Amino acid sequence: MSQPRRVAVMGVTGSIGRQSLDVLRRADQFELVAVSAGRRLDDLVAIVEEFRVPRVGVPDEASARHLAERLGSGVEVVVGDAGLVELCRDADVVVNAVVGFAGLPVTLATLEAGRRLALANKESLIAAAPLVERVRSTPGAEIWPVDSEHCALHQCLVGSSEEPTRPDVERLWITASGGPFRGYGAEELAAVTREAALRHPTWQMGPKITVDSSTLMNKGLEVLEASALFHVEVDRIGVVVHPPSIVHSMVEYVDGSVLAQLSAPDMRLAIAYCLGAPERLAHHWGRLDFTKPLHLDFEPPNRELFPALDLAYDCARRGGAAPAWLSAANEVAVEAFLEGRLAWRDIIPLVAATLEHFEEGPLESVEQLREEDARARSLAHGSLPR
Ligand SMILES: NC(=O)c1ccc[n+]([C@@H]2O[C@H](COP(=O)([O-])OP(=O)(O)OC[C@H]3O[C@@H](n4cnc5c(N)ncnc54)[C@H](OP(=O)(O)O)[C@@H]3O)[C@@H](O)[C@H]2O)c1
Repeated sequence: MSQPRRVAVMGVTGSIGRQSLDVLRRADQFELVAVSAGRRLDDLVAIVEEFRVPRVGVPDEASARHLAERLGSGVEVVVGDAGLVELCRDADVVVNAVVGFAGLPVTLATLEAGRRLALANKESLIAAAPLVERVRSTPGAEIWPVDSEHCALHQCLVGSSEEPTRPDVERLWITASGGPFRGYGAEELAAVTREAALRHPTWQMGPKITVDSSTLMNKGLEVLEASALFHVEVDRIGVVVHPPSIVHSMVEYVDGSVLAQLSAPDMRLAIAYCLGAPERLAHHWGRLDFTKPLHLDFEPPNRELFPALDLAYDCARRGGAAPAWLSAANEVAVEAFLEGRLAWRDIIPLVAATLEHFEEGPLESVEQLREEDARARSLAHGSLPR
């Protein structure tokens, strides 16, 4: 029998982290060798005990002391970014399920170590695209996209041209559910509440991505993510609203053929694809039933009422650290919204106002990226209502 594949799940206490555990529970070809989390330490302890995980990462010393006391000497606890880097080097596959820019060390360390990165944390790729591109060529390094749209594109691109500019691809089509406010008018949008923004019509996700879905910033970030992952410029990437969330994305080839990936809206399918490849894992989550009527409706997004989409395209064209600024300012705005300090209608205007201070130029290093991220955050914080 071959050795089990050694898996690390970073951000294990969140929505993608827990769904990754669900995949691991039902497959015996994997061994969970490391996990990390942020603040939910009780949940982390329960996971470590259930899976007998030997190594755990937490962001700070106080959490590490607390965990070490509760878990005893059989479990190694590592701290901060340096600790995460160590955990990533030691696995065959690393699931990056951390939310936001905090996922950057996981993305970079996994690729630098020549490991497979099962990437859910789109923010790190978007912010650091030119830097990620450099470490992607490390022997053994691979990115397998967990985001359902990118997982779909990955599957539809199998067999397409290996040339860097993908000349046989006319367009990538990213589908969007439309979020909870599809069809709303300007007046209704001006009055939306936190509760309404957290009620997604088809997906159960963490709070940040759920709010991003309500503003369509998530789709904007996904356009940037697709461009970085598949080396297709954003002007060849379209977004189309598809409320049933069954077609997860499509590739239109130059001969007019369109390949689509369909499945039930269940992130465990994408996670299993990334963990098991090249093998497809047999499981019975969310099957489509083609013996019943199936509606596959598509419509264009409302770009006027949801300006986040065009903001993201604009950042892609500006290049350098512009996508990092977009993502950082958006993180600040969404956090403020979730804390009740910013109205929903002011999230995207705050991001746009922050971007007005951005100065174009190449993105050369991680240090520069951290400075750019800090500057964007500081400007965005400065624009929050007092
Ligand atoms: N959820 C989905 O269905 C879905 C779909 C596609 C893509 N994604 C992407 O996947 C990523 C995770 O999303 P999610 O919905 O799973 O988020 P989530 O439920 O909020 O979970 C985020 C995870 O990150 C951890 N974390 C947060 N800040 C951290 C820090 N500073 N250091 C270390 N760990 C930290 C959290 O730990 P604690 O909870 O312990 O604080 C938690 O384990 C995001 O980039 C999102 O865009 C998610």
